[in-house]
Amino acid sequence: MPGVLVTKRVYPEAVELLRRSVEVDYVDNYEGLTTEELLERSRGRQGIVSQLTDRLDGEVIGRLDSSVCVISNVAVGFDNIDLAAATRRKIVVTNTPDVLTDTTADFAFALLMAAARRVVEGHHFVHSGQWRKWRIDLLVGQDIHHKTMGIVGMGRIGQALARRAAGFSMRILYADDFAAPAAMEKELGLTRVGFEELLRESDFVSLHVPLTAGTRHLIGTAQLETMKGTAILVNTSRGPVVDEAALADALEKGLIAGAGLDVFEEEPKVHPKLLELGNVALAPHIASASVDTRRRMSVMAAENALAAIEGRRPANALNG
Ligand code: DGY
Repeated sequence: MPGVLVTKRVYPEAVELLRRSVEVDYVDNYEGLTTEELLERSRGRQGIVSQLTDRLDGEVIGRLDSSVCVISNVAVGFDNIDLAAATRRKIVVTNTPDVLTDTTADFAFALLMAAARRVVEGHHFVHSGQWRKWRIDLLVGQDIHHKTMGIVGMGRIGQALARRAAGFSMRILYADDFAAPAAMEKELGLTRVGFEELLRESDFVSLHVPLTAGTRHLIGTAQLETMKGTAILVNTSRGPVVDEAALADALEKGLIAGAGLDVFEEEPKVHPKLLELGNVALAPHIASASVDTRRRMSVMAAENALAAIEGRRPANALNG
């Protein structure tokens, strides 16, 4: 019977599904495995169900047992896996797109609203007993409706965010190498602009690009200087897309007004300055974390692994 290593806890439905067809070595905890343990425990097995905290770089993939034919990542992002190295080894890599699109876009909008309307500061204010009386200018923030949303990366999640922005009567700019379908541009009133123009014009800039060599530190000092002083940056993509030290400096100096961040350069570490600033809403990489979505992601990863093992092309194959 073929075997699958599940490197960390997932939703139980996924393990049940796998167990119907394959032998499962299930690491039923959140700690997972060291690289050496992962290499050892995947020996003789055909599949690995991995998570974004499993670093499967070129060196690790080069050392995987020749039995391994699929790495099924429980995430839409796959920057933790060296896809080229996997392709060279004829290992199929899969991810979990679509099921998390709306959930992630909801959360990007939640962070945007939290930062713009100072929800986190308000919570601390009330919680710490500082609230004495209603005041005309108490914790005044920025309107969202009728403002300009700048979406960097008009893929699935970018498009879902655009729908939400349209619901708030926002003017929507986007920057992407590819144009959105004309019908969608028309329906949502999207305008495709250059990256610099987007930074200059937007009241809110939300990042929806994968992490690649080309997008690492896409937002640094120069870009932050280009943004409006009143602008808010939202990042639910990958931490290294933003130069975190540059962002912390920019927020401290008031180069931009605020940020909503779900992802960080070296998770779970957060730049110490960001922890001290009031004008940021921080979250621990939970944009896709609804019960339904995380369950669907788990099951989808199991289905992808099974498909590859059974000689079918997985619905979400990224290579091969
Ligand atoms: C992903 O899927 O890539 C997210 O970062 C976690 O859901």
